[in-house]
Amino acid sequence: MASRLLSTKPIDEILESAKGEKGGLRRALGPIHLVTLGIGAIIGAGIFVLTGQAAALYAGPAVVLSFILCGIGSAFAGLCYAEFASLIPIAGSAYTYAYATLGELIAWIIGWALVLEYSFGAATVASGWSGYFVSLLADFNVHVPPQWTAVPGTKLIMFQGHWQILSNVLPAIKKLGINPATLPHATGIFNLVALLAILVITIILIVGVKESANMNAAAVITKISAVLIFIVLAAFFVIHHPQIAAANWHPFLPKNAGHFGEFGWSGVLRGASVIFFAYIGFDAVSTTAQEARNPQKDMPIGIIGSLVICTFLYIIVSGLLSAVVPYASLNVADPVAVGVNATGVRWGSILVNVGAVAGIGSVMLVMLLGQSRVFWTMSQDGLLPQWAGKVHPRFRTPWISSIVVGIPVAIAAAFLPIAALAELVNIGTLSAFVIVCLGVWVLRRKQPNLERSFRTPWVPVVPILGAAISLGLMAGLPALTWCAFLSWGAFGLILYFSYGRRHSLLNSQAHK
Ligand code: ALA
Repeated sequence: MASRLLSTKPIDEILESAKGEKGGLRRALGPIHLVTLGIGAIIGAGIFVLTGQAAALYAGPAVVLSFILCGIGSAFAGLCYAEFASLIPIAGSAYTYAYATLGELIAWIIGWALVLEYSFGAATVASGWSGYFVSLLADFNVHVPPQWTAVPGTKLIMFQGHWQILSNVLPAIKKLGINPATLPHATGIFNLVALLAILVITIILIVGVKESANMNAAAVITKISAVLIFIVLAAFFVIHHPQIAAANWHPFLPKNAGHFGEFGWSGVLRGASVIFFAYIGFDAVSTTAQEARNPQKDMPIGIIGSLVICTFLYIIVSGLLSAVVPYASLNVADPVAVGVNATGVRWGSILVNVGAVAGIGSVMLVMLLGQSRVFWTMSQDGLLPQWAGKVHPRFRTPWISSIVVGIPVAIAAAFLPIAALAELVNIGTLSAFVIVCLGVWVLRRKQPNLERSFRTPWVPVVPILGAAISLGLMAGLPALTWCAFLSWGAFGLILYFSYGRRHSLLNSQAHK
């Protein structure tokens, strides 16, 4: 029994079955597509929304250090992903790597963690996207009724010309001596905007990966432009108002407020555990390995290229944002737009809103793309029902798994208090990073002679550091997140023992 759980799938067999597959996924993606897919997945709600919260609540201007810490951890993990993605270029990503190195049970656990990452991640991002989209429409005088823009029961209030979540703005309203009851208010029914966004993206994904990648490329150009516009405007402001920037950056590392995670060094760690969300996505590149024209060479370029570009941009953006606006005022839904407003350039904020809408939208696309590919691979292995692995005869996309994923994600985005789930997404992703890092090391020892077209440098130091930083970031997350994560894992194990283990192709072959 234990040996069945630990049975690994031979790498030759994995590669052979992918080669022989008839009617498989279309190989349409080149290196530029892969780097843009990576950036498409990475820059999104994390930098556009969570940076403000992390600075205001946990780290202050030292949120820059949180970004550097996450960047280093992600770089180590990214190098390990690159080795695996070029060695085993299969759509299942970390799930397949674990299957080849650590056994079926661990593979299932990681597949299940990836489901958490991509599905709840897409739902979280849809919620952030709807906020920016509604505010962009409002810039053009189109007003969506507020009840349809928030999860059930959310108290909203009209403040400073925008519908905002009451609890976020209550302190500011009180400070101004305004009685909140005198302002227009509404209660959320469900987030229709987020629901529709996920449904539209699901349809795009069914129509074709090439089309999706092209649309993604346009979105990526728009959001990088938005980020660059912010950088230029904010840098100009800092050069002309060095005294304001110096005051905002003082103290750079605010003193700990008496609790773990509220400023000080523990705040930097807590901030890093939250803004880690901003780095999620480079791993999604590896889920498109079976759609890459030359995965051995291009997977490492896609993963590392996108990660390096985004890390660089994040460090600059977070540094400038906390220099332009006092960190305490950054706990808003659109901190980057607030940053542009502070520079006094009015047109800048509309452009940043447009960039955020396009940018966060493309994150949803890549996350749902990754999710349906992981589902597809798991069903190919028999761990999920076969119907999830059907490829559409004309579009050649895993259409049933796209629909099976898209509908519940749309409902989750519409009904669940998703902001709190971002931390759950982080813990799921970090656990996958730990396994991938350890997997690289295990495989180097077990099969040192495999031909690796990309080799992670300094093994085992890099994998160990990648796993250690990921575990450290997991430790920075609250106990409630751990409970939810463990419950998710327990649910996954029930599914595995009641379905996956009995239908696993690997196990049935072993017992023929
Ligand atoms: N990194 C992605 C984002 O920030 C998930 O939205």
